[in-house]
Amino acid sequence: MAYTPKACLFDLDGVIVDTAKYHFSGWKRLAEELGVPFTIEDNEQLKGVSRVGSLEYILNKGGLFLDNDTKVRLMERKNDQYLELVSGMTPEELFPGVVQFIDELRGQGIKVGLGSSSRNAPLILERCGIVDRFETVVDGNSITFSKPDPEVFLKGAQAFGVTPADCVVFEDAVSGVQAAVNGGFRAVGVGDPETLAAAEFVISGFEDFNLEVLSNRLS
Ligand code: BG6
Ligand code: MG
Repeated sequence: MAYTPKACLFDLDGVIVDTAKYHFSGWKRLAEELGVPFTIEDNEQLKGVSRVGSLEYILNKGGLFLDNDTKVRLMERKNDQYLELVSGMTPEELFPGVVQFIDELRGQGIKVGLGSSSRNAPLILERCGIVDRFETVVDGNSITFSKPDPEVFLKGAQAFGVTPADCVVFEDAVSGVQAAVNGGFRAVGVGDPETLAAAEFVISGFEDFNLEVLSNRLS
């Protein structure tokens, strides 16, 4: 029998909008200023990881120990650069097909929420004109534990009053897919099938994707 979710939770950066590239350039710049090489593979590890977790990853890689004030200053600087990059964003930077898919889900009575590690999520939603698409928003401001901890998605499911098994998570990050799996959600990867092998299946984007395809693939 075809599986129909009661709710869907979307990651933001790299799933709805192409902000993953801005995070990448921010962390790369900061790492290189600290004398730590920063590769695409490092970036894959950092997708979905909180701001502080990302800085700790870079410091660990470089074998660096910094005091707390310096860490706070570095995170502020990275975030200021990131905000400069995203402040001019427009709805044109939404990934093709994603809003149409969200509207289809909502039209079918399926609840739609956001599950993002980013503290900047409200700003990005606003810049992209999609605040009203989400019935619940769980972001970096409302969680204690970063992905791969499932907290962000469990809070979303709780807000909807649905079990994780009735809820699909869309994720572009290794840590995010793992968070979904850890929480007992149905996980759909968005991006590279090899990188996101822990997902039940992986799509390259939301063009040519709809509820019928989702239901069939998860049956
Ligand atoms: C995630 C991104 O969505 O949010 C990470 O994938 C980012 O790259 C994390 O570090 C935290 O974001 P922010 O905007 O609060 O620094
Ligand atoms: Mg992401």
